[in-house]
Amino acid sequence: MGVRVTATAPGVVKLFGEHAVVYGKPAIAMAIDKGVRVTVERQGGDSLLVVARDLVVRGVAIRVTGGSIEGSVIDGPQLAKLASYALTALRIVSEGYGGDLKGIKVTIESQLPIGAGLATSAAVSVATTVAYAKLIGVELSREEVAKLSHKVELTVQGSASPMDTATSSLGGVVYIKPGVELRRISAPPRLPVVIGHVERELTTGELVRRVKELYSRHPKVVDKIMDSIEVVVNEALAALGKGDYQLLGELMNINQGLLEALGVSNHRIANMVYMARRAGALGAKLSGGGGGGAVIALAPGVEDKVSVAMRLAGGEVISTDINDQGVVVQH
Ligand code: MEV
Repeated sequence: MGVRVTATAPGVVKLFGEHAVVYGKPAIAMAIDKGVRVTVERQGGDSLLVVARDLVVRGVAIRVTGGSIEGSVIDGPQLAKLASYALTALRIVSEGYGGDLKGIKVTIESQLPIGAGLATSAAVSVATTVAYAKLIGVELSREEVAKLSHKVELTVQGSASPMDTATSSLGGVVYIKPGVELRRISAPPRLPVVIGHVERELTTGELVRRVKELYSRHPKVVDKIMDSIEVVVNEALAALGKGDYQLLGELMNINQGLLEALGVSNHRIANMVYMARRAGALGAKLSGGGGGGAVIALAPGVEDKVSVAMRLAGGEVISTDINDQGVVVQH
């Protein structure tokens, strides 16, 4: 049992099937080569300390002593929210496997733009679960990590599909049908995608609720939209296996139209999507909850042009590639 363990877990882009996955439909997501690093150490004393910072040197420190929580927040609520995922992960692992949380210090460092829809909270949940389990001498399989960190997201958010936590844990490109199937799938070794993001107007939770309300007002229509998304996902699975970019792009555009119909897109997303397509992207869609957040464009051979177009449309662009490893403990 070491006194200090560091684990890294990747962020996630949703390729196909977001929102429908909340209703048990399949989805495809990809782990990206930017993520979070979480260090868990035993430093003694009575408190449990969580420190979170991102690359823009903002930070938050939260100390839990007995039942009382003290926080010193150097940035707004986003990083404090991340800390709550880490705290919940520690509690869930210690409830299942033991270990004393007194005297534990957790440091979270994020390379991801927080709140952009790139699954920072899932990555924090996954990396904290693995690092703390290792610290107390427990080896978890990737599937166990996926399950435990999904529980973390459910506890903090109230509702969440297992897509983000499973993909961050496994790495690569993942096909998931909640409760039925979870597997890495074959995909080209490098997907020529450009990821842009804009500020979000609503949280994922709010958008999931918005879709639920639409569903209850128009059950027959929304049923058909969810079924269509399922068909798109299954056709995308075959197209990814063959590396058929043309077909994948078309399916991304159809998926965007269906997400638009669910009411989770907005004008800023639409601007980026149309600018990316005009710059030569074969397909472009929102990625994740919507309401702003991330947009993904498939742009073989025109990545630079599409990046410029997305910036002109008001987005920030992150360059990224597939992360093949999933969560790893660093020695
Ligand atoms: C959020 O990244 C994706 C949604 O499908 C919600 C979820 O899967 O929990 C909108």
